[in-house]
Amino acid sequence: MTVRWLFAAFHLLALGIGLGAVWARARALEGPFDAAGLRRVFSADAWWGVAAGLWIVTGLIRAFAGLEKGSTYYLHNHVFWLKMALLVLVLILEASPMIALGGWRTRTRRGEPVDTRLAGRFARVSYVQAGLVVLMVLAATAMARGYGVSR
Ligand code: HEM
Repeated sequence: MTVRWLFAAFHLLALGIGLGAVWARARALEGPFDAAGLRRVFSADAWWGVAAGLWIVTGLIRAFAGLEKGSTYYLHNHVFWLKMALLVLVLILEASPMIALGGWRTRTRRGEPVDTRLAGRFARVSYVQAGLVVLMVLAATAMARGYGVSR
């Protein structure tokens, strides 16, 4: 019982961390890109990464380790697959900012200037990801209440 409660709690905490972080990343990627500005980008990006890990680990255990309604329920639930499709979209969109921001971190650590020409695009990607997370909340809460079960 306690394990189930704790995994549910951490799964929801990931939402608070993740939605806040991806929104903060979008804002920070609008500049300025002085030392403080870059620190804001890197910190928001790091918390977004923490939330992603927490979401996926606690989610997979909740779905497939028998803590909730059992694997069969989720595997036969259309809304669960919609939620997973939205997650895959978030992860695909994450590829280029993740690689670029990794490069920004390396150059900043070396004291080298960062090429921020794509920052605007990464800000837009982050806003879209924030919207997708909101859609995932709608899917998750529907799935948890029996929507999507194939009759
Ligand atoms: C691999 C990724 C994920 C899996 C396998 C997963 C799985 C689950 C499972 C099994 C539940 C419990 C549902 C129930 O009570 O029957 C749940 C709840 C929930 N999930 Fe996820 N999840 C994942 C990622 C996410 C992400 C990225 C979000 C971000 C929005 C999210 C948001 C939620 C919310 C808000 C609930 C609570 C629903 C409620 O009790 O009303 N999950 N998830």
